[in-house]
Amino acid sequence: MGEDSLTITDNRTGRTYDLPIENGTVRGMDFRQIKTSDDDFGLMVYDPAFTNTASCKSRITYIDGEKGILRYRAYPIEQLAEQSTYLETAYLLIFGELPTRAELSQWMHAITNRTIIHENIKKVMDGFHYDAHPMGMLVSTVAALSTFYPESKDIYDSENRLLQIHRLIAKMPTLAAFAYRHSRGLPYVYPDNDLSFTGNLLNMLYKMTEAKYQPDPVLERALDILFILHADHEQNCSTNAMRSVGSSEVDPYSATAAACAALYGPLHGGANEAVLRMLAEIGSKDRIPEFIKRVKDGENLLMGFGHRVYKNFDPRAAVIKDLAHRVFEVTGRNPLLDIALELERIALQDEYFIERKLYPNVDFYSGIIYQSMGFPVELFPVLFAIPRTAGWIAQWLEMIEDKEQKIARPRQVYLGEDQREYVPIARRDGPASGRTSAVA
Ligand code: CMC
Repeated sequence: MGEDSLTITDNRTGRTYDLPIENGTVRGMDFRQIKTSDDDFGLMVYDPAFTNTASCKSRITYIDGEKGILRYRAYPIEQLAEQSTYLETAYLLIFGELPTRAELSQWMHAITNRTIIHENIKKVMDGFHYDAHPMGMLVSTVAALSTFYPESKDIYDSENRLLQIHRLIAKMPTLAAFAYRHSRGLPYVYPDNDLSFTGNLLNMLYKMTEAKYQPDPVLERALDILFILHADHEQNCSTNAMRSVGSSEVDPYSATAAACAALYGPLHGGANEAVLRMLAEIGSKDRIPEFIKRVKDGENLLMGFGHRVYKNFDPRAAVIKDLAHRVFEVTGRNPLLDIALELERIALQDEYFIERKLYPNVDFYSGIIYQSMGFPVELFPVLFAIPRTAGWIAQWLEMIEDKEQKIARPRQVYLGEDQREYVPIARRDGPASGRTSAVA
């Protein structure tokens, strides 16, 4: 074996194995040959929550958590946030290259002309309770799209696949806006294809009786930047859900619904909603020390802080903090910003957070901007799901075309009982059964 290998000695047998190292990894399956006897299953790798497992090879998004670097297809996130648009970034993520002028205009045309949803989807929306969370409605209606486009299950037909990609990116804002309007008891607003991607979203959310909705250009651009920042983040929880569910070869709408459901959780896309609730609960700067104490005592998390990958700073948080000031020039300053800034200042000087490398993540400031733009907190995870759809699709496509991928199916370490004989119910009561209650 050459230098790029790992030599392992199994102390149970004294045998030595050479495992090749490729791209800084060893293959999990190479451990299977390490056995104590012929009928031994072989060694497995135990990695709950995949904290040290590469589940795929990818060319889409690069993160260096120590240095605070995020790049889509090798382009730094700061440059894309400054110079690109969400739809161009979506093209870049999905196809791997920045589009030419003609490609971009074709791409935008294909998406803009697919923003309308089937009228029956409105009936699905109407079935929800008046206070249904818009994320629950989004998860359900994205899944419902697969029933409107049954041909989407033909995932190996590239032309058909492209059509579903256009539809998914185009219809997410419409579903999101309809979910919001339903929860407010407002009439649905149909897409206005003269507007930009984010301008149209604002139109579908906020248009009242005016003949034509005119989005504020600063807010329209700010939302576009936020969408660029949220478009992909390599193998996070929801992307892993997209790939894992997609690996069963289900249609992309169903896989996207699974990804949306994963994003809904408070430790993932629900965190910006949780940040705002936390800031509102703190209420004033003088109550921050008491709150920090509770965090350090393990009673609460400091929401919007910490990241599995970033251990220095989250580059998206830096762009968003800057953006906040531009937005506040239009909307007026959000008083929660002062609490957030002070919370950040105190936390970054505190040993508890320094030791654990806990810094503000993307969600710490995005919620404050969203609130200033008039979005209710329940809409925050939805505003994350819309742009992340581009990343989910890019990752799903890469998975489908990767010959090394198969249906995702992890192993387990079974720690339950060995075989037991079935006990008829009449004999299960009483001390003689030897059974303790299974229900607490
Ligand atoms: N507040 C207080 N303590 C924390 C926090 C926090 N936000 N995050 C981590 N810790 C502590 C944790 O208790 C642990 O302490 P100890 O070593 O004493 O047990 C230590 O820091 C390491 O944390 P961990 O739980 O092992 O870290 P993780 O990589 O498993 O979790 C995380 C990452 C993002 C789930 C976590 O930091 C967290 O729950 N943060 C708050 C929720 C949040 O802001 N989520 C948004 C993430 S970014 C956007 C996205 O991915 O959707």
